[in-house]
Amino acid sequence: MTQADLVVVANRLPVDRVVDASGEPSWRRSPGGLVTALEPVMRRADGAWVGWPGQPDIDVEPFEFEGAHLVPVRLSADEVEKYYEGMSNDTFWPLYHDVIAEPRYRRVWWDAYVRVNERFAAAAAEVAADGAEVWVQDYQLQLVPRMLRELRPDLTIGYFHHIPFPAYGLYSQLPWRRQVLEGLLGADVIGFQRVADAGNFARAVRRVLRYATKATGITVPQEDGSTRNALAKAFPISIDAASYIELARRPDIQARAAEIREGLGNPKKILLGVDRLDYTKGIRHRLKAFGELLHDGRVSVEDVTLLQVASPSRERVEAYMQLRDEIELTVGRINGDFDTTGHTAIRYLHQAYPREEMVALFLAADVMLVTALRDGMNLVAKEYVAARVDNRGVLVLSEFAGAADELPSAVRINPHDIDGMKDAIMRAIEMPAAEQGRRMRALRKRVMDYDVARWSRSFLEALDEAKAARRSTSATRGES
Ligand code: G6P
Repeated sequence: MTQADLVVVANRLPVDRVVDASGEPSWRRSPGGLVTALEPVMRRADGAWVGWPGQPDIDVEPFEFEGAHLVPVRLSADEVEKYYEGMSNDTFWPLYHDVIAEPRYRRVWWDAYVRVNERFAAAAAEVAADGAEVWVQDYQLQLVPRMLRELRPDLTIGYFHHIPFPAYGLYSQLPWRRQVLEGLLGADVIGFQRVADAGNFARAVRRVLRYATKATGITVPQEDGSTRNALAKAFPISIDAASYIELARRPDIQARAAEIREGLGNPKKILLGVDRLDYTKGIRHRLKAFGELLHDGRVSVEDVTLLQVASPSRERVEAYMQLRDEIELTVGRINGDFDTTGHTAIRYLHQAYPREEMVALFLAADVMLVTALRDGMNLVAKEYVAARVDNRGVLVLSEFAGAADELPSAVRINPHDIDGMKDAIMRAIEMPAAEQGRRMRALRKRVMDYDVARWSRSFLEALDEAKAARRSTSATRGES
């Protein structure tokens, strides 16, 4: 049986199950950023990844994939509905994104969440070697750190929260606010995207649990009357910038970018939005601003087209179905009002694309619109910047996306302020090449310096330090 020195625990495995024409299933690497981020780390000796294979009711034995040991966790259809669609994506997701949609608090969902978290913790406990490090990912698994610590006190546990952590006034709505904080505090290192997220977490810990916090340290009382220290700190996630740069330099991808422009009737300016179809992304606000610019005559469809890629997401959750209807109605209205036979206002694509096509879209776009109402980080902003090897293009970036902390040279917006957003879009459309270059160079420097390898390295270094500190404490106590 494999015993891993480093175990990643995430809701999803880093692979997707695909079934070919003859009905034979196989595995394909998932396109997600976390997978790329952790791949080199997993290749490190004896890495294992515990996760759900993405479909209900399938039984899969642990297997090796591209140098990593993968441990599938089975979820029944009922658990997918209650733990994943319900508690994770209809309770935590809206609550943690500032209640943009109304969170639903259902006790049967919570019960399933607890049960499934227990299953992930048990699977991790089984595969982790003696004294191993375990890195738990994201809001679907907030109870795992504590459960794991109870099962395996020898482990050093990290947790990274990929989404925002809300202000206490909102967090306090959660009926299970105490259990979640206790769950997270099972970890030795708790990572957040922004300094503000770590601050919100520490405040919730003070208010609900009355534990002492000091800067990034939290004093956690133990059952035996002693205390231990947990670190709660910002580690902003990033992208594999080099791979985007490599793609952006490929002649076939540059040719594809020209073809995309051609396909849109060669407008003077192309605006681009790329999002999972999610209410946190501010897609409706963006469409409203663009529709008004057309209505006011500040832009025309001959000159400017908005290309909106909205990839399908969580399609069985009610709020997502509603959002899709609203967006598609709005796109239809705007296009109906402003399209000509030769030009379209909005080219809307409810599809997901491979990375090559994404880079071609980035290269084709003069202005990238990231108008999130709340977003943990927003990696699309960083991907756009990395792809602009020509130092051209303008990033319009919401201050409510985590990326705003790191990318001050973007054109900053408050997406709730429609007039402000309209002016910012005009400024981006009209920005002289020299200013585009100045800003883009500064943005690129940040994204290239702080890439995803640096992110995972800094988190794992903090985990190593926690491990060393644990060892020296137990040595002082005379434990073996
Ligand atoms: C966000 C979350 C991830 C999640 C991803 C896609 O980025 O932080 O944990 O995996 O969205 O959502 P999905 O529900 O399809 O996994």
